[in-house]
Amino acid sequence: MSSFEQTLKSDIDLVNEALDKYLQVTDSDYGKVIEAMRYSVMNAGKRIRPVLTMEFCRLNGGNKKGALACACAVEMIHCSSLIHDDLPCMDDDDLRRGKPSCHKAFDEATALLAGDALILKACEVIALSDTKKSVATKAIGILSSLAGTEGMIGGQVIDLASEGKKIDADTLSKMHSLKTSALIRSACCMGAVCADADEENVKNASEYGEYLGLAFQVIDDILDVVGDEKQLGKPIGSDEQNDKTTYVSLFGLESAHKKAEQYTNKALSILDKYEGSEFLKELTKTLLKRNK
Ligand code: IPE
Ligand code: IPE
Ligand code: MG
Ligand code: MG
Ligand code: MG
Repeated sequence: MSSFEQTLKSDIDLVNEALDKYLQVTDSDYGKVIEAMRYSVMNAGKRIRPVLTMEFCRLNGGNKKGALACACAVEMIHCSSLIHDDLPCMDDDDLRRGKPSCHKAFDEATALLAGDALILKACEVIALSDTKKSVATKAIGILSSLAGTEGMIGGQVIDLASEGKKIDADTLSKMHSLKTSALIRSACCMGAVCADADEENVKNASEYGEYLGLAFQVIDDILDVVGDEKQLGKPIGSDEQNDKTTYVSLFGLESAHKKAEQYTNKALSILDKYEGSEFLKELTKTLLKRNK
């Protein structure tokens, strides 16, 4: 294993161990909803967002483990968004992370509640962690605002409203910035905040997250066309079926790839400002070439 792969694995192991502790099924009348939360979290997710949180903490001179609560929180919000995104009232997809989507494995009401509960659990995990109170307050502020109407949820609203319509490139990139970059930005910024980074460094984290998120969503759109369902663990052709505008539908595969490359280079140029950013640079490049 290369040192990049080793670091990635040890970050993911830390996150998985902590998530497992946070999501223990209790023997109660409502145990089913916790089972559904666990089902949607403890699986083959790539854990990109929590890894970013820990690595941005380290990049800013902090201890990775000090960012673990925030790392788990952003993964919980992300998982909640996937549960809701797959519901019949949204993208109506039956496969997620190589298994039946939450509403298929359980039922729609349980999936809705499991998604809601994960959002609340995320705030609880940060608030009740031993993270310094001033840092915890900032982190919850960052996460809730960037996951909310001015961030991820806002982007999902535009995404759904755009189905069946041809939207222009500016609207498309605004939608990507909100539905995907915003949460990735929150992951990076929370990491920086956990290391008590100053405003300029939090701004760098935010800009990096913006560009990485834009590249990430363009690649996601590409994989929806040319990916392998088994490897990807989610359905291929979902965007076309739902009549979504994507970079691929607007400009074709080749231009979409070029766009993802440009965004990736912008993200990399922000990392150039930092010593010790080799791991994050490697991760950024790996995400451009990903097939899942
Ligand atoms: C999928 O995110 C949703 C998007 C924002 C494109 P990921 O590709 O990070 O999904 P998991 O967490 O690995 O399942
Ligand atoms: C993801 O967009 C945005 C979210 C906030 C979940 P997609 O709808 O393209 O994500 P996938 O492809 O279903 O993972
Ligand atoms: Mg969607
Ligand atoms: Mg979807
Ligand atoms: Mg997609």
